[in-house]
Amino acid sequence: MAANSADILLPIPAKVSLSGTFFPVASLRSFAVDKEFTGVIAELQNLFHTLALDVKKADDDHADFTITKTALPAGAWKMTVSPEGVKASAGDITGATYAANALAQMLFAATITGDPQAGLDGAEIEDHPRFTLRSFHLDCARHFQSKDVVKKFLRILSLCRINYFHWHLVDSQGWRYQSRVAGKLSATGVSSYGQYSREDLSEITNFAHDLGITVIPEVDVPGHSAMLLKHYPQFSCDPQNPGEEFCIGKPETMTFLKEIFAELMELFPDSPCIHIGGDEALTTHWEKCPVCQQAMADKGLKNMRDLENKFMVELSRFIVSQGRTPIIWGTSSGQTYPPDTMIQCWLDIREPLKIAPHGNKIIYSVHSSLYFDYPANLDEPWESWMFELSEKGVYMTDPYIIWPEKVKDVIIGTEACLWTETIPQHRIFAKLFPRIFAYSECAWSLPERKSWHSFNQRKSLLEAAGYIDYVKGL
Ligand code: ACM
Ligand code: ZN
Repeated sequence: MAANSADILLPIPAKVSLSGTFFPVASLRSFAVDKEFTGVIAELQNLFHTLALDVKKADDDHADFTITKTALPAGAWKMTVSPEGVKASAGDITGATYAANALAQMLFAATITGDPQAGLDGAEIEDHPRFTLRSFHLDCARHFQSKDVVKKFLRILSLCRINYFHWHLVDSQGWRYQSRVAGKLSATGVSSYGQYSREDLSEITNFAHDLGITVIPEVDVPGHSAMLLKHYPQFSCDPQNPGEEFCIGKPETMTFLKEIFAELMELFPDSPCIHIGGDEALTTHWEKCPVCQQAMADKGLKNMRDLENKFMVELSRFIVSQGRTPIIWGTSSGQTYPPDTMIQCWLDIREPLKIAPHGNKIIYSVHSSLYFDYPANLDEPWESWMFELSEKGVYMTDPYIIWPEKVKDVIIGTEACLWTETIPQHRIFAKLFPRIFAYSECAWSLPERKSWHSFNQRKSLLEAAGYIDYVKGL
């Protein structure tokens, strides 16, 4: 494998044809991008600065490196490397970002030896994603992650072709955004350990957008809500002992949550999907609550799981009425949701098979393959609920693991999750690397192009060339 060819790209592109020609790096003096792709300029300038290349921004198509706009599907990009220069094209900002990133990898690989004659091999590259949704989740509730950490996280995601950021903003341990509806959670002393202001949210969302990343905000209900219920115990079953679950029998709970979600949608005006949680609520409080019992009887339901399902369906109808798509964590209790609700499968590999007949679109996040808080090996700290998740284990992940013909039309993508019960912000990046590159190739590349051997070769070469440190922001 040549050190300076398009063969080193990671994740591996759909098609690479080497042409036998050569573009000298020393000839790279100017770059220009379509006016819709100005979001990539800062990363390109950072790249040229890092590699000590004097490449100036130009305004015309005759620059040595160009990214023009053409009719390509979302995320797809093409590139021709020839003695005349490097001509890339994309249909949207995500594709443009990935083309710029491919150039970065080729330049790092080409300049590895410091040879003044270094060059990029001539090539035709065509690339497009396997999945339309390639997502990464970050839990900023258990441990708060500062604005700068989230921005760095997003930059790394975009360099790994990840185009959605699932932002777990609240949980029992913390309510991490300033809310007018839940104003008591912004009081001094509550937010002192970390909370995003409204300005922070839009700054981070705009930053993500410029990297080709769409934000999916989550407020997790009806469980995981101890922090909110401590300050608003009237929405729990037992205000003396509010616990983690909202009372799902009180009509005022639904009224309050609709206000919470209306505000969330106002804070994230460009988020097409809103995550409403739905995982791990205990029924214990509901079983003992006369209001929940009455609600269950009035609705003619058999058990509290059915009442929870009615509750979540009503909330999902509210999200749909506002023109957004609701996402809910899959449950093990067999309840279903209207087909316009997306389900995030995390419990086990058979979950998609159970959901597929109902027509819901699925995000594949099965914990044993995609939970990055799990230890990469047992020398790391770990908890009893975790599995070992090695880099190889991530690389082997395939959302079509069983009966692909039954699930491939409904699985729209995959998401890796970084929960932070045990991860303060100084450990976030140690949990990402090196496994994120394996995830990137799973989410992006066509399965027939994947090879553990080739992946390792490409990664080792890029590591030796300093590219991995560049991704880490070192
Ligand atoms: C989850 O891991 N509780 C979705
Ligand atoms: Zn109740």
